[in-house]
Amino acid sequence: MYIKQIYKDKYEQLTNWKKYETIINQFRRKSIRVNTLKTTVPKLEKELKKQGWSLTKIPWCKEAYYIEGLRRDIGNLEEHKEGHFFSQRSTSLVPSIVLQPKETDVVLDMCAAPGGKTTHLAALMKNKGAIVANEPVPTRRRELEINLQRCGVMNTLVTQQNGLTIKDVQFDKILLDAPCSNSGSLRGNTKKSAEIMQQWSKNKVKKFAKLQKKLINHAYSLLKPKGVLVYATCSLDPEEDEEVLEDLLQKTDAKLQTINLPIKTTNKKYCKIWPQDQNTDGFFVAKITKP
Ligand SMILES: C[S@@+](CC[C@H](N)C(=O)[O-])C[C@H]1O[C@@H](n2cnc3c(N)ncnc32)[C@H](O)[C@@H]1O
Repeated sequence: MYIKQIYKDKYEQLTNWKKYETIINQFRRKSIRVNTLKTTVPKLEKELKKQGWSLTKIPWCKEAYYIEGLRRDIGNLEEHKEGHFFSQRSTSLVPSIVLQPKETDVVLDMCAAPGGKTTHLAALMKNKGAIVANEPVPTRRRELEINLQRCGVMNTLVTQQNGLTIKDVQFDKILLDAPCSNSGSLRGNTKKSAEIMQQWSKNKVKKFAKLQKKLINHAYSLLKPKGVLVYATCSLDPEEDEEVLEDLLQKTDAKLQTINLPIKTTNKKYCKIWPQDQNTDGFFVAKITKP
């Protein structure tokens, strides 16, 4: 994969470059989450194994597997069309698990499309309580709606607006899966990886960080007392991760909570997941509470 020199110079300071470079040049393992709103884990496991797929449990999510087979187009499987599973990266399972929504909660998913995490939240809530899934980009909002329908989600209202303009409503729990530079998603010599690398620049990272700080502070203002906010990005750039978190902690009374999951992370409190540590994407997740 082509890597810009400025990227290499920066990342050599952040991690073990050799190990990082080796892993990001390999393809990511495909993974799925069983949609328990439509089927059960044993049923889908049995069906996919019967078709010759090899499944390996993902340690931090009991409904998810790494999946391998002769084909790679798992999106064309009948079970996918029927909404029995969601093709979801193993790292992107973490935020909804950490948010731990209850069946009585009112939840905001501020940046929701294409809906991997909204459908996960709905499944964890057993289609009860209520979710507001917001996505400002019309084509992406449509994709979100299609996925909600495919997965049989019934407790979710879709809105289409800039997250910063959501007002006059308070939530028990909020997921902010922020727009980001996507540096954690560099895996394999693909068109997508080339696109991420081509678009990555120090200026872009700065721009995203500015928006992310606004979004996290606004999300926190929409949280009820005792509420929980989960901040996530698929970026590994500290400006979009630790610095955004720090901005919120400095400006408000927000408290950072420890995340305890069977996942390797370079920090004890929040999850900073490096691709080389367990052959995944790179990801950042932090859990915050309001007193
Ligand atoms: C990382 S993606 C979300 C992925 C999604 N949570 C999932 O799991 O499928 C970030 C999303 O934020 C949206 N977005 C960009 N600017 C936004 C803003 N100002 N307010 C809310 N959402 C925004 C993007 O269009 C994009 O769909």
